[in-house]
Amino acid sequence: VQKQASVDNTIYDRLGERWYTAQDDPVALLRAESKIKTPWILQKIENRFGLKKNLRILDIGCGAGFLSNPLAVAGHEVTGIDLAEDALAIAKKYDTTGRATYLTADALHLPWGESQFDIVTAMDFLEHVDDPFAVVKEAARVLRPGGLFFFHTFNRNFLSHLVIIKLVEWLVKNTPKNMHVHHLFIKPEELRKFCEHCGLAVTEMTGIRPQFSTITWQALKNRSVPLNFRFVLTKSLALSYLGCSQKSEGIRP
Ligand SMILES: C[S@@+](CC[C@H](N)C(=O)[O-])C[C@H]1O[C@@H](n2cnc3c(N)ncnc32)[C@H](O)[C@@H]1O
Repeated sequence: VQKQASVDNTIYDRLGERWYTAQDDPVALLRAESKIKTPWILQKIENRFGLKKNLRILDIGCGAGFLSNPLAVAGHEVTGIDLAEDALAIAKKYDTTGRATYLTADALHLPWGESQFDIVTAMDFLEHVDDPFAVVKEAARVLRPGGLFFFHTFNRNFLSHLVIIKLVEWLVKNTPKNMHVHHLFIKPEELRKFCEHCGLAVTEMTGIRPQFSTITWQALKNRSVPLNFRFVLTKSLALSYLGCSQKSEGIRP
């Protein structure tokens, strides 16, 4: 029996400033993708909580703060957790508000009691752990009833294997081996079930895809991500998808 490769999460401890500056690394794709994810999430937060500020938000696997920092700018009380200390230091450095809190912690053992947060997020994260259900369970536990859990991950099918693993390896120079492993990708229906088992009702899911017209010949030649490379929302969940779920008001600790 062939052993399945494990995902390499050590790469996030070695990027340093490159989180925010590199174009010849797939982190540039994560950065570009965050430009479409953040406004979508802010809109859903406003739909649920109005213009209320200082919402308590936990960003699980926050990396260098691509979501945590804009949420802090929007006036919220944000805590980002990650296992990569180097990434956390960069996140803190790029927090222009000085109000976000960054902590080393494991998503599988969150160091909080029940119902501590209004919002929990896990962006580009669930496909980085062997047991995503355990993470959703932890997220639901620390979320208050009526609170929101946002997720973004990759669908598992032939197309996502081709585009998210193979195409990125071919087109972006410094793609680390096992940055993503296909068997850890999650089908939307699987994630919906994980949420439902934890008392989280999925209210919305939207697909995200690259806007291929923003790829330039120059970038292809250099094997780097063009500065103006963009992602767009799409109805199809075939590649990557972003979703929002709400914890049942009935579930009290
Ligand atoms: C692809 S990055 C996503 C970063 C960020 N959420 C974003 O969207 O820019 C995945 C992150 O998960 C972190 N990570 C992996 N396993 C973890 C765990 N068990 N607990 C906390 N963080 C973890 C990695 O260190 C890395 O920063």
